[in-house]
Amino acid sequence: MKILVIGGGGREHALIWKLAQSRHVTKLFCAPGNPGISELAECVPLEITEVAKLAAFATEKGIDLTVVGPEAALCAGIADAFQAKNLRVFGPTQSAARLEGSKVFSKQFLLKHNVPTAAAGIFDNPVDARAYVRKHGAPIVVKADGLAAGKGVIVAQTVAEADQAIVDIMEKRAFGDAGRQVVIEECLTGEEVSVMALVSGGAVKILAPAQDHKRVGDGDTGLNTGGMGAYSPVGLPVDATEIFARTLAGLKADGIDYRGVLYAGLMLTPTGVKVLEFNCRFGDPETQAVVPRMDFDLVEACIATADGTLEKFELKWKPGAAVCVVLTAGGYPGNYERGQVITGLPAASKLANVTVFHAGTQFQNGQIVTAGGRVLGVTGIGGDIADAMRRAYDGVKWIQFAGVHYRRDIAARALHRTSK
Ligand code: AMP
Ligand code: GLY
Repeated sequence: MKILVIGGGGREHALIWKLAQSRHVTKLFCAPGNPGISELAECVPLEITEVAKLAAFATEKGIDLTVVGPEAALCAGIADAFQAKNLRVFGPTQSAARLEGSKVFSKQFLLKHNVPTAAAGIFDNPVDARAYVRKHGAPIVVKADGLAAGKGVIVAQTVAEADQAIVDIMEKRAFGDAGRQVVIEECLTGEEVSVMALVSGGAVKILAPAQDHKRVGDGDTGLNTGGMGAYSPVGLPVDATEIFARTLAGLKADGIDYRGVLYAGLMLTPTGVKVLEFNCRFGDPETQAVVPRMDFDLVEACIATADGTLEKFELKWKPGAAVCVVLTAGGYPGNYERGQVITGLPAASKLANVTVFHAGTQFQNGQIVTAGGRVLGVTGIGGDIADAMRRAYDGVKWIQFAGVHYRRDIAARALHRTSK
């Protein structure tokens, strides 16, 4: 089978690493890919939102399955374009991807279908938004409606901060049209867990939960990022069955045939598990910690999801744990430099049970250099969290580039819990 993966980050490298292990694969392509991916797949110089060109490429090459990584491609309608050409695609349609692409749509969906979530108001003008903040007080959370590269959520500790967020999002349009509407919601507390599930029409298979580390600094300090590291299993009592059951019932009631990964960002609050957000795709870096634990064929799982035969598919998990530590460019998530030469990759990759996933890297004059904020993810696989952590950090030690930053405490919180 010929398989095409859309994307070029650490998530896509991890997906390709796993897909490449399938006996069904004869050839892998990735658009646009990255240097790490190029060791396993032929990289195609097309951007993720060049939907028509990607569909034409898939037709021309006779691709049997396309797996879509990033939300931008899904929100741009890549699944619709592929389906229109009778191409098999793993990923929801543009309309279904609104669960991630629009926080207003997502919140209305959650409230309408009684999926536990933070109480919220939805506003299309700053005057009413400010009045709501006055009425409810701080802390309070302000969210831009549309995609905002992970920066559209402000957890305001004071009313003044919430007001500022409303000004930035709605009046200054810091995220453009994504700020035409806002969701303002109750601030919840508790541990966060990422639960991804394969969803295909009425069928759902919940993947092993993972925990992300969103803040840039050790001890969960500093700015929010796309994710500084992840681990799985989480060793927390997360039961997402009811959340997904209600969500699937809601999708059915609304006539949405969702096929792909549905990722629920959950918070384990004192009053139960609540949904903070939905994503319409695999998490990054959660995927780099979940994929190595899969004891099933990912090609078969993706095909079952796309074709509507997921109900009968059985997921199995390897015992043990996986920990992914993300290496970033200095300054990320603010301004950072690109083009720094990366050394030590072969030595790190040679270690037993260590895999280096590329994210923001590129070839330059025969060397691999940094090309993004999140540069690499080093995943350690071990008998338990402590073992996996040790292996991941052993790998990290070999890798160097000017300005490299990573957290020293990925998975540290899990060490004291019983693995589940
Ligand atoms: P979201 O994109 O909605 O997941 O928000 C990004 C991050 O903001 C989450 O991972 C949480 O850390 C935080 N967050 C979002 N909604 C809330 C909420 N209602 N209460 C507290 N924190 C929140
Ligand atoms: N790691 C968070 C996300 O993928 O959205």
